[in-house]
Amino acid sequence: MTSSETPTTPRSGKIRWGLLATGHIAGKFATGLRHSRTGVAVAAGSRTAESAARFALDFPTILGIHGSYVELLANPEVDAVYISTPHPLHKEWALAALKAGKHVLCEKPVGMNAAEAGEIVAAARASGRFFMEAFMYRCSAQTRKIVEIVKSGELGTIRMISAHFCFNGGDNTDGRLLNKELGGGGILDVGCYPVSFCRLIAGAANGIDFAEPEEFCAMGHLGETGVDELTTALALFPGGIQARMTCGVRTEAEIRATIYGSSGRLVINQPWNPAPEGGSTTLQLFRNTERPTITKLVEIPVAIDGHLYGVEADTVGDAILAGKTEPESPAMTLDDTLGNMRLLDRWRATIGLQYDADA
Ligand SMILES: NC(=O)c1ccc[n+]([C@@H]2O[C@H](COP(=O)([O-])OP(=O)(O)OC[C@H]3O[C@@H](n4cnc5c(N)ncnc54)[C@H](OP(=O)(O)O)[C@@H]3O)[C@@H](O)[C@H]2O)c1
Repeated sequence: MTSSETPTTPRSGKIRWGLLATGHIAGKFATGLRHSRTGVAVAAGSRTAESAARFALDFPTILGIHGSYVELLANPEVDAVYISTPHPLHKEWALAALKAGKHVLCEKPVGMNAAEAGEIVAAARASGRFFMEAFMYRCSAQTRKIVEIVKSGELGTIRMISAHFCFNGGDNTDGRLLNKELGGGGILDVGCYPVSFCRLIAGAANGIDFAEPEEFCAMGHLGETGVDELTTALALFPGGIQARMTCGVRTEAEIRATIYGSSGRLVINQPWNPAPEGGSTTLQLFRNTERPTITKLVEIPVAIDGHLYGVEADTVGDAILAGKTEPESPAMTLDDTLGNMRLLDRWRATIGLQYDADA
């Protein structure tokens, strides 16, 4: 069988995953696959056969060991490919994987900019294969619960959303977080989370899957490698909803989200990585009882369905097995991905950050 004849649904009953790149997050995803109902890791492709073999040592189900990404995509035993190269390579390998007839889960950001995202989404739609941008928090029970609470009206009218993802990734200017050629910088690496969250919540408040802002402004600090190290954005969404978003890769700061409504506020202490190994997490709802100062805290336990990356794999697996080509919101739909990338472009343009891919 040639690669273009790869079946759209697996014959084995389980989705057979091939991992394209074997870095940090590929290890987490392969670990998640051990807990997946629907999928199993069967192959790994790396730039060298040695690193593919080294990676496979920890994952006995990986029998396909490939010394190039091309070789991985030619493996007919692979139904779906998980792409976790640095961002500038996402487009090339997402397009190649779709061309090879594979279903694709591609790490965030799906490309370097909205133009690249548009090419990928067009190819995905033409291919008839499943495609999703890998925002695992969008697949979690916690995110579904947050959307449910916003839609229920329990917070009253939504007035403001704040969402932040800042961490100190160290001073290695050659590494992917700070190296501009590798797509370094906070907006693409972690700013995509607050942006996707605010669009999701503003959408839920307006009765739609996601919303786009009517106004936007930002400020930011570019470091010595020319990438954004810390930046803050403000946006105004339909319904007068204000959003505050901060991201950074060189400053230990907030990792949290809060949704403020006329009747109370919802605090999400672990918005992006809730109970990563499974178990439970808690949302805090502060309900206004006697305005303006008295609030009542209600702890909302959320049972997390399982290992977060396994849940992400099952979001993909369930959709593929149901014959779908994209997931259902709040997981990242193709239109959601396009809107998210457009807002990331806008954020970067506002603070003067361009990559070669933008030329
Ligand atoms: N969803 C999440 O929770 C999450 C978390 C972290 C990162 N990510 C995303 O996943 C992607 C990878 O992040 P990571 O932290 O896994 O990075 P990483 O540890 O540096 O791994 C990236 C891998 O890409 C491959 N690669 C191909 N060309 C490369 C090049 N020129 N330089 C360096 N590596 C190259 C390498 O694998 P081979 O040697 O096997 O070819 C490398 O191990 C990023 O797009 C990031 O945004 C997502």
